[in-house]
Formats: sequence, C-alpha cells, structure tokens
Amino acid sequence: MNNFSYANPTVIQFGKGQIASLADLIDPAHKILVVYGGGSIKRNGVYDQIAKALGNHSLAEFSGVEANPCIETLDKGVMLARKEKVTFLLAVGGGSVIDGCKYIAGALCYDGPGWDILTGKHNVTNAVPIGVVLTIPATGSESNSGAVVSRAETQEKCIFKSPAVQPRFAIMDPDVMLSLSERQLANGLVDTFVHVCEQYITCSSKALVQDGYAETLLRTIVQLAASFQRDNYQWRANLMWAANQALNGLIGLGMPRDFATHMIGHELTALFGIDHARSLAVVQPALLRSQINVKRAKLEQMGRNVFQLAEGDDLAERTIQSIEALYCSVGVATRLSAYGATAADIENVIVQLKKHGMDKLGEHQAITPAVSREILTSAM
Ligand code: NZQ
Ligand code: ZN
Repeated sequence: MNNFSYANPTVIQFGKGQIASLADLIDPAHKILVVYGGGSIKRNGVYDQIAKALGNHSLAEFSGVEANPCIETLDKGVMLARKEKVTFLLAVGGGSVIDGCKYIAGALCYDGPGWDILTGKHNVTNAVPIGVVLTIPATGSESNSGAVVSRAETQEKCIFKSPAVQPRFAIMDPDVMLSLSERQLANGLVDTFVHVCEQYITCSSKALVQDGYAETLLRTIVQLAASFQRDNYQWRANLMWAANQALNGLIGLGMPRDFATHMIGHELTALFGIDHARSLAVVQPALLRSQINVKRAKLEQMGRNVFQLAEGDDLAERTIQSIEALYCSVGVATRLSAYGATAADIENVIVQLKKHGMDKLGEHQAITPAVSREILTSAM
C-alpha cells in the first residue's frame, strides 16, 4: 500500500425527503445559480421541491446543460453567473450537470479562456462553492473533485481535477431515480462497476481493506443487475450509495490506478456520441484481454470473490466473460460496431488519444496508442 492523505469534505444528505434540507445547507446571504439539464427535473417534481426549499433564498437559473456537457454551453452559464453576481452554484442533475458546474465554478474565478482549465494551462485553485442535488447515480461526481467537459467544435472530451470544485454537500434521495429510464439505470450500474474495476483490477497490492471494499461494491452491482427493480426503494438506495462509494476516492487510496478504459472511452463519446457507460463496456473487456498477463492475479481474485467462479487455468478469461455477460444482462452492448462505428473510425480515436497525451495508459503505462488500436480493433 502506498502512502496517501485522505479527506472527503462533501457532506452527504442521504434518503427520502432530503431535498428539504437545502434550506439549511446554503446560507441565505448567497445568490444561488441553480444549474440543470434538459428538463427532467421539471417533470419529476425535483424542481418544485427545490423551489419550495429555497423559497427564502435569492435564485437565478441556468438550464440546458446537455449530457457530456460542452464548454460552448457552459460558457453561457459563466456569463449569466457573472451578470447575476452569483456566489453559490447548485447543480441539480447527474455527472454532466455536476461537472458542468465544476467548470463554471472554476471559470468564474479565471479571466482567461475557459478551455485552459481542461488543457491544464490554468490550474483551478479558487472556485465558487458548489452544492449538488443528485438525480442519477453513476459517476460519483457529487462527492469527488473531478470533472469531464467536452468541446463540440473539436470533438474533444477532457478532464480536470481540483479540490476547489469538490461539492460542499450532496443531497441523495433515491426517490428521484423513479423517473430514470432503463437505459440510464443500466448506464449507472455499468459506470459504477467500471469505476471499481479501474481501481481494483491492477497490480496485486495486498491492500486488504481496499480490495475487500471494492469486492463488496462489485458484488453489490452484480446483485442489483440480477434483480433490476427500480420500483424498490432499497434497490434504488443501494445503487445510489454504491455509485457514490465507487468514485469518492476511498477504494483507490494507496493503490495503483488504471483508468485506461475511461481515457479511451472518453474519446469514443467525443467522436461518436456513445453514452459514457456504454463506451466503457466496449473498451473494458478488450482491454482486460489485452492486459490479461499483468492483470491475471487480480482477475482471478475477482473471479473467485465476486463471481464465485471455480479454479482453473482459464479463470482470468472466465472472469472477463462474466463481466461481459453482466453488461449484456442489463442491455448494454460490448461491441463497438453495435454503436455504428466502423474499423476506419478507429484511427481518429488514436489521433485524439495522442493529441491528449494518452500515450502511456494503465497502471504499468504499457497501453501505448498502438496497444489502444489493437484493443479497439478487437472490440469491433
Ligand atoms: O438533462 P435532463 O433532462 O436532466 O436528462 C438527463 C440526461 O439526459 C437524464 N436524467 C438525469 N436524472 C434524471 C434523468 N432523467 C429522468 N429522471 C432523472 N432523475 O439522464 C441523462 C444523462 O444524464 P448525465 O448527467 O449525462 O448522466 P451521468 O450521471 O451518467 O453523467 C455522465 C457524464 O459524467 C462524466 C461522463 O464522462 C459524462 O460526461 N463522468 C464524470 C465523472 C466525474 N466527474 O467523476 C466520472 C465518470 O467516469 C464520468 O466520466
Ligand atoms: Zn465513469
């Protein structure tokens, strides 16, 4: 286990009716910008609950943040926030709205071009405070310090991280999930599963706590996928909490990290518009097969402890097959061709990976663009 320092300062308000606690979580002296997406919150009652809770606060609104949020849209939010002299951002949505708010929060304290935040030219050390009302469990963005933002003009999707954009609080009411489509719920299951895998299927680290907790989360997702029941409160609550715990920083402490599947997947989303989770379901099985020799010990451990597979020389391969079967069981396709991409498109992905410096991915920095090409070709 490597050295680490750890703090997760996001206050979690979990459970039924928790949106009402907004009134106490935000100082009434703030001018709040409520940021949301395409309007699901107006149809499912979340907007009304927020309006009621913040009846005595001063509010402005910015809507229309799209899935895989684009800087072109978010910069309009920055302009509005400046005009309204906003001092607090309330993200009401999933990873896209939350990440969009993290960008707006950082851009408000920076005078240069906003894309500098995504290229690393500007390091965000100062940001407007953020709170979150989570409406879709998947990314863990509600209590981490990362954000993924796209630029439509150049079909790019890049990451930035800063403790300054870590949300102050996250309200997680599993009842908001009642209006989610099967597609979004399946995306949440898959994204959560891959987040755990990216921190777990690496080198053997002898980190018993992290491994044990990761396996608990993986088994939870396997169980939830086998009993898909949005109408059951406990089912929703378990998915919401698992998704949060998968990427709030805890299970990766002191561990080698991979995240190559995410980096390649982001390029697929940017170029072909594939849902984030589905891009991961395409890349991950092919990547695990490509890296099976260096990941064998962890794949075998996962086969035993998560899928209860029998011992054997092919245990690692059977673990990968179990992962594929899990995604297929919730209707998520694992072949790139299923999303309309062709073999000829792969070269564009490689060009973008190189442009973004993604030329030594994985816990051994062994996934070069040439290896990524092989992975994507075998995922066709
Ligand atoms: O825009 P609205 O109308 O709200 O509809 C949204 C959106 O179309 C809908 N939705 C959300 N809550 C709903 C609902 N529909 C009905 N009822 C509800 N309660 O769901 C659609 C997808 O929302 P989105 O926020 O895009 O989903 P998700 O949470 O999966 O976020 C994906 C984004 O997060 C990034 C991804 O790359 C992608 O851009 N990620 C962020 C991470 C982070 N910050 O730590 C890590 C992840 O690995 C990921 O990369
Ligand atoms: Zn993800």
